[in-house]
Amino acid sequence: MTTEKTSQFDVVVIGAGAAGMMCAAVAGQAGKSVLVIDHASKLAEKIRISGGGRCNFTNMHATPNNFLSDNAHFCKSALARYTPQDFLSLVKRYKIAFHEKHKGQLFCDDSAEDIIRMLKSECDLGKVQWRMPCAVSEVLQSEQGFVIHTDRGPVIASNLVIATGGLSIPKIGATDFSYRIAKQFDLKIVEPRPALVPLTFDAQTWEPFVPLSGISLEVDIETGEKKNKIVFREDLLFTHRGLSGPAILQISSYWSSGQSIRVNLLPELDIAEELIAAKTTTKKNLANFLAAYLPARLVDGLLLAHGFDGNLKIADMQDKRLRQLGEKLNRWELVPNGSEGYRKAEVTRGGVNTRELSQQSMMVNKVPGLYFIGEAVDVTGWLGGFNFQWAWASGVAAGKAI
Ligand code: FDA
Repeated sequence: MTTEKTSQFDVVVIGAGAAGMMCAAVAGQAGKSVLVIDHASKLAEKIRISGGGRCNFTNMHATPNNFLSDNAHFCKSALARYTPQDFLSLVKRYKIAFHEKHKGQLFCDDSAEDIIRMLKSECDLGKVQWRMPCAVSEVLQSEQGFVIHTDRGPVIASNLVIATGGLSIPKIGATDFSYRIAKQFDLKIVEPRPALVPLTFDAQTWEPFVPLSGISLEVDIETGEKKNKIVFREDLLFTHRGLSGPAILQISSYWSSGQSIRVNLLPELDIAEELIAAKTTTKKNLANFLAAYLPARLVDGLLLAHGFDGNLKIADMQDKRLRQLGEKLNRWELVPNGSEGYRKAEVTRGGVNTRELSQQSMMVNKVPGLYFIGEAVDVTGWLGGFNFQWAWASGVAAGKAI
């Protein structure tokens, strides 16, 4: 897609994703001349594949507490000035059908393409121009502004917005461009790492649990200690290589290498007390008794993996042994050996250090005219529409400020 007529712009946005398109639309509609450059041939590939193709475009309950950053207060201003309600108003204006899945997560009824078309229309209203696919080789600063060298010739911009996102899913075009530009301008970076990602275990540890692959159930999951402890109640999914599902994706953003995670498979029940009380009231064996609370295949697999004989009558078991089993079910402690990495991660945690940026405008404090927005910045949302809300809010903040 090439629509540019000039090679000098008020604003050049690099990255035609969620944040970049939002920023371009806002700046264009405010009367700025805007060019968007992207190395991909299609707009916003991540929006297209998001939410299983239906784009979980915001979360109605979003607050700054749903975001991770080295600088927890940074995201507050932008999120307060462009809210989920604001984005929803836009979605409604375009008559895009949507529904709430759960916990405030809003999805398109039909397709994520509706959101891309909406953003493109908003850009068209702002007479935004495009250079796609187009590779950027170098960014320099001159007296006229930023000079962006591309494989289609140079472009000059008074303001340059870096909206090239994070490192997740390299096969659809993720690069480290934002971090390279940050380093070039001597900006600090919070070490990027995969987040919202399945966790893995070494083959030997995981072997007994491989037969449980495909089982999903709601759990409480936690990591960290005391003040740093974080707990989510979400669905857990057993896979061949480890654990996945929303519970794991959420906790993965808080998990660091070497740390344990704790899983409560029966969050509403103290199962050890239940088992001990049942000694005098049931003739059932362990496997049959537990099958009333958990899927039978899970019970059989867990008992085997943890070294319990499911045929034993509960009445014949010692309280101590039942408490040991209770611990495995209510507080199963595991130490992942890693994650599935950027290949599977929904987002990148870390990025451009927010202390380098203005929280009002996203502009680099020491480089007037240079902005970083979206996932490139060290602000990472929980699973559930929060990352797009940050993309919209940071894009609007920069688009308005320019
Ligand atoms: P984004 O990644 O959207 O855009 C970056 C753009 O920059 C891309 O168009 C890319 O081609 C371009 N680019 C990269 N390097 C470049 C270079 N060197 N030169 C030129 N262009 C370059 N979030 C959410 O809230 N709800 C959801 O449902 C989902 N679902 C989801 C599913 C999957 C599978 C993934 C991987 C991610 C999600 N997310 C999500 C996360 C969400 O997609 C993500 O946080 C936002 O897209 C980030 O928006 P940005 O605009 O910052 O980057």
